[in-house]
Amino acid sequence: MPSVSDRLPTFPWDRLEPYKTTAAGHPDGIVDLSVGTPVDPVPVLVRRALTEAADSPGYPTVWGTQALRDALTGWCERRLGAQDVTDRNVLPVVGSKELVAWLPTQLGLGPGDRVAFPRLAYPTYEVGARLAGADHIAYDDPLELDPAGLALLWLNSPSNPTGQVLPPEKLRAVIAWAREHGVLVVSDECYLELGWETEPVSVLHPEVCGGSYAGLVAVHSLSKRSNLAGYRAAFIAGDSDVLGELLQIRKHGGMMTPAPVQAAAVAALGDDHHVAEQRERYRARRTALRGALEAAGFRIEHSEASLYLWATRDESCWDTVADLAKRGVLVAPGDFYGPAGARHVRVAFTATDERVAAAALRLRE
Ligand SMILES: Cc1ncc(COP(=O)(O)O)c(C=O)c1O
Repeated sequence: MPSVSDRLPTFPWDRLEPYKTTAAGHPDGIVDLSVGTPVDPVPVLVRRALTEAADSPGYPTVWGTQALRDALTGWCERRLGAQDVTDRNVLPVVGSKELVAWLPTQLGLGPGDRVAFPRLAYPTYEVGARLAGADHIAYDDPLELDPAGLALLWLNSPSNPTGQVLPPEKLRAVIAWAREHGVLVVSDECYLELGWETEPVSVLHPEVCGGSYAGLVAVHSLSKRSNLAGYRAAFIAGDSDVLGELLQIRKHGGMMTPAPVQAAAVAALGDDHHVAEQRERYRARRTALRGALEAAGFRIEHSEASLYLWATRDESCWDTVADLAKRGVLVAPGDFYGPAGARHVRVAFTATDERVAAAALRLRE
């Protein structure tokens, strides 16, 4: 049998292991700022909803409970400013990574189809294209892409790894171009509620999409905004034809969000207070790390939103990783996100206040 994993790139995080060992040797322990994984508690109201739904013996549905669909449509209208969002415009997914990796396959893309994503990007966009056997292309500006054979265009604003935010006028231009050429736009907006120097706007906002979701899908996740990465709760919203097709495929594939997680997601989506609280934690950590990195000779680029600082000292990212690991601080090399990141590192501010303070001290030494 031909190996499917042969189609995939080497899992990059394995290359970081020796540096992790070095950083772990620091007398005061490692500060791991490499993976953007939440470390703060799951909000109490979310945990309560999860446990109250623990007695869930039956199969959940892929489309979710009516309560979940109401929570999704309500959140899209309240937080994204989207208008007239119906049940047919939303679909729960089992964490957004799963969706990103399998979307090209579930859309029936394959050899001859092209999937485009940003030059510096979350690696799973490419993985998804490769799993489907489709071609992929990295872009600097989507408007410069050749539309021939282009089936799926990924946007990611705010961006992982750079934190860059696309302004509404750029989003509008890309959507107009994609509609003209019949290209599906899928906009990964999982950091949308984490803007620091600018207010990120969704493709579903009427000023961006012109009040129509045709040819548009937005991807959202509860992992970062609600510290729910361990629950696997995310959803897509947008074009009802695309979502209806995906619903059929995903029903056959059994891609159901567990019932207690659906209940937890309802609670999380209905509460903005814990999101504001979590944002303030991240804001303080971001400020501390930014100041310390700049004091240590780094230049921060973009980073106006998301959970990352995109930093450079104009040297190979691996030299930076090695130097910081000796100081007990682990960061992600920029080339994990494409060769264009070879001289940057990505510094996540998903560590406890105590660990962030330790990193700031070490960077200033
Ligand atoms: C840009 C982007 N999209 C999607 C994901 C996946 O998030 P999750 O699977 O937790 O929803 C991540 C995770 O870091 C990400 O950075």
